[in-house]
Amino acid sequence: MNTTPASATESAPETESASETSADRSQSAGAGDATAYRWLVTGAGGQLGTELVTLLGKSAQVRALARADLDLADAEAVRTTIDAWLAEPSDLTPVVINTAAYTAVDAAESDEGTALAVNGDGPRNLAAATAGRARLIHVSTDYVFAGDATVPYGVDDPTEPRTAYGRTKLVGDLAVREVAPDTGYVVRTAWVYGAYGPNFVKTMTKLSRDRETLQVVNDQLGSPTWTYDLASGLIELAMSDALAGNYHCTGSGQTSWFEFTRAIFTELGLDPQRVEPTTSDAFVRPAPRPAFSVLSETEWAGAGLTPMRDWRGALHAAFERDGAALRNES
Ligand SMILES: NC(=O)c1ccc[n+]([C@@H]2O[C@H](COP(=O)([O-])OP(=O)(O)OC[C@H]3O[C@@H](n4cnc5c(N)ncnc54)[C@H](OP(=O)(O)O)[C@@H]3O)[C@@H](O)[C@H]2O)c1
Repeated sequence: MNTTPASATESAPETESASETSADRSQSAGAGDATAYRWLVTGAGGQLGTELVTLLGKSAQVRALARADLDLADAEAVRTTIDAWLAEPSDLTPVVINTAAYTAVDAAESDEGTALAVNGDGPRNLAAATAGRARLIHVSTDYVFAGDATVPYGVDDPTEPRTAYGRTKLVGDLAVREVAPDTGYVVRTAWVYGAYGPNFVKTMTKLSRDRETLQVVNDQLGSPTWTYDLASGLIELAMSDALAGNYHCTGSGQTSWFEFTRAIFTELGLDPQRVEPTTSDAFVRPAPRPAFSVLSETEWAGAGLTPMRDWRGALHAAFERDGAALRNES
């Protein structure tokens, strides 16, 4: 039976070296310097938001706001919440990280207005509330690009979203840069998985139990990104000297959903030959998936930020640390 790299949400698409790596960096970012800052995380109930709050909360002062605490589409609520938080007496440097989004890629095709309110108006509201007063790290997606390139997308390459989700995320990216040019950071990522919430790795783990063989598309390329590494990168960026602007942050290297699934089977101790390649033609979905989602690491490295570790090593580390969750056992 076929399976697809794209189910309900973007997060559930169906999916060391001599220098310091994201793995090393995350420990210092999560423990030491982060205490000089106070952090406000929106979308704190999502897979990335939960990872961030867990990582930061070990040492730093964190305000975690899930959707029930703050609806980003509500401009007045965003303004009063941020104003009150910034007004709290503190010597710590305030940072806002926005991980909230309407991530249901297929549903957005028939619900673009709702997606726009979250993905477009939400970041604009946050940018307006923080501009010039606090760094805003806003998380975005490879879906803002056409997905037909053959070399990794640079941060300022032309955008050309092919889906409602991508269009609405692009509106948010542009709003952050327009409204908060000196304090707004847009960080695009891709193929995110981790311990919290549904994602591709958990879906494949479940399917490995239900089916003897799986067909997974081999003609869509991207870079799997562990939430722990991404959260660590966002924290490092927030504390760095990097100028406001667009950045890309994914696992290093590239692969296909098919090869990624084979690697997942290997981590599960299963025979990777049970995973067979197929093509995107086998799956017709409301929102077309990008054939090429690889994002350039050049600007991230150029800003002096720690290189992200390669996606395969990160997957292994993820199973070592979060194996129970990724196996759907916790
Ligand atoms: N997952 C991926 O593969 C991937 C790839 C590239 C980029 N990204 C980007 O990475 C970021 C984090 O994604 P994720 O995987 O952590 O997504 P997620 O697990 O779907 O989390 C998003 C969170 O945003 C919340 N939210 C939705 N509407 C909201 C609103 N109006 N106000 C406040 N919060 C709201 C959701 O709450 P409810 O659950 O209650 O709706 C959810 O907790 C997003 O910006 C996404 O676009 C993700």
